[in-house]
Amino acid sequence: MQIEPIVRIFETDWARPVADAIQAVIEDTIVLRRKCSLMLTGGTTVQEIYRRWAARPDFPHTQIAYYFGDERCVPADHPDSNYGMACQSLFPGGVPQYVCIHPMEGDSLDCEAAARRYEALLPDHIDVLLLGVGEDGHIASLFQGGPATEEMSRKVMPVIGPKPPPRRLTVTPKVIAEAGVVFLLATGRQKGKILARVLNDAGPLQELPVRNALRATWLLDQAAGQELVRDHA
Ligand code: 6PG
Repeated sequence: MQIEPIVRIFETDWARPVADAIQAVIEDTIVLRRKCSLMLTGGTTVQEIYRRWAARPDFPHTQIAYYFGDERCVPADHPDSNYGMACQSLFPGGVPQYVCIHPMEGDSLDCEAAARRYEALLPDHIDVLLLGVGEDGHIASLFQGGPATEEMSRKVMPVIGPKPPPRRLTVTPKVIAEAGVVFLLATGRQKGKILARVLNDAGPLQELPVRNALRATWLLDQAAGQELVRDHA
C-alpha cells in the first residue's frame, strides 16, 4: 500500500498559514530538544515564507541551526544562490552574528569534495526539512533520471541538473527519509497536477523524485489543491 502524505490546502493568503504551521513545529521541537535543525529549500515559492518569518520579532532564530537541502554551484552573492536568497529573505539587514547557518560550498571548484564536507557537518537527524517541487516533479536538486534520485547511502552529492544553473549540490533521499518532519510547499495548477499524478500512480522514484516526499506534509494553495481534489473526488 502506498504511503499517503498529509495534505493541507490553504484557500486564501497561502503564505501566512504556511509560515505559521512550519513555525509551530519548529517551536515544538525547541520545547522538546532546546534547538531545531531546519533544512531550507531554494526556489521562489518559499521566499514569501522566509520574509514572513523575518518580519516576526519572536521567530526563534537563536535556537535554530540552519542547513540547506541543495545549492547551485555559484558564489554566495550570485543571484542564483539559494544561500544568498535565504539570507536576503530571512535576514534583510544582514545575517546577525548569533545566527547558526551552514551554507553549502556553492563556490567550490571541486563539487565532490564540497559534497563530502557538507555531509560531514550535517547532524545525524534533521528536525524540520523544507522542500519545494518543480513542475517536472524534482525536489531539492533530485531530478528525473538523475544519479542521486535513489541514493540511500550518501547524504550529499554533486549533480548536473536540467534546471539552470546545472551544476548543483543536493541532499539525497536518505536525508529526506531520515528527517523528523518534512514539509513540501507547492502552489499553482501545474505543481498540483504533478502531485496528483504522484498520488494516483506508484511509479519509480527515478521518474518522479517528488515520490520521495510521500510521507511529508504537503502545504498547498487552492490552485494546487484543486488538482488533487479533482483527481481524488
Ligand atoms: C532549487 C530548489 C528547487 C525548488 C523547486 C521549486 O534550488 O532550485 O531547491 O528544488 O525548490 O524547483 O522552485 P520554485 O519555488 O521557484 O518553483
